[in-house]
Amino acid sequence: MSGMETLASCVGVDGAARMRALAEGFGPYRTYVSAPQQDGIGRGLVRRHDALMNHVMSRAREGVNEDLQDLSARINLLRGTYAEGGRIFAPGCEVLLDHPGFRQAAHRLSGRAIVVPTMLYANILLPGQELPLHTDTPAFRGLDQTNAPEWLLVCMGHSGLFEDWRTPMIGAVSFFGGCEGGDLVCFPNGVDGPQVRTPAADDTAIVLDSEGVFHGVARVGGADHPAPPSEIGMEIQHVGGDGWVVRSRGKDVAEYRWGQFRFSVQWKAKCYRSEADRAGADGIAREAAEATMVEDLRRRGALGDALPNETELALRMIQTYVRFPAGALH
Ligand SMILES: [Fe+2]
Repeated sequence: MSGMETLASCVGVDGAARMRALAEGFGPYRTYVSAPQQDGIGRGLVRRHDALMNHVMSRAREGVNEDLQDLSARINLLRGTYAEGGRIFAPGCEVLLDHPGFRQAAHRLSGRAIVVPTMLYANILLPGQELPLHTDTPAFRGLDQTNAPEWLLVCMGHSGLFEDWRTPMIGAVSFFGGCEGGDLVCFPNGVDGPQVRTPAADDTAIVLDSEGVFHGVARVGGADHPAPPSEIGMEIQHVGGDGWVVRSRGKDVAEYRWGQFRFSVQWKAKCYRSEADRAGADGIAREAAEATMVEDLRRRGALGDALPNETELALRMIQTYVRFPAGALH
């Protein structure tokens, strides 16, 4: 079964024009960075160590060893939060938040009766940027991004050991403005299935089981496009007409026009079987989840009696549970 559906038209020609106007009126859109994890299993690992490690290794296998600064410039997208947790920050975005096509596809893809949209983020990828292959970080009753590292949640999801606690989220991505390159690359029939590429064409959308289906974004502007400028605190803002300006520390560092960068709006909805499922009270604690995985790793022969150090144990979990599609993202 495929874990993806496409919408040839998301909000129609006029709706897309309204979304581009909304995008221009909102802002600035900012990069976000997070420091490596400071404690516990996986100390020293970055937020999505699984995806970054696979990205670097698969590029290295192809003979490409990218400079670390370029690597980070390529993946640090710019973001604006349009809606989250029941609050609307970009009035007018409800047309996407409550999109009936997204809801219906989420019912079908999750097989669950109750679909609750929870967030709407606008993402901007500059020419030269890309997103490594990954599956989205899942959430469990008791454990989510607020109290557990993301790589651990991803391992929990792929292990299949915690399905009783998982609240599946279905994602949708809608595209406005269009751009060269920047295809969404998905593996909707599993890691061994063929990749499906969807161009980021204006007013199109895809709905995706983004926690189960590996996906990434091919380089915007074409495979040979150089890395864009990247500094902590960098932001992009519409400045009139088709024009947008990237600013860093109060200075203009680059200019772009619609059609050069990739603009998408990411929707997520939690999916429940029933109201009782939605109200589910019992959560899982981090210690219990880690102990279950250690036991499972031993059963699989991936771990001996003596525990390795906290970083090595985390790497062992990632290597055992997260199997990426073969090949690099192009
Ligand atoms: Fe994703």
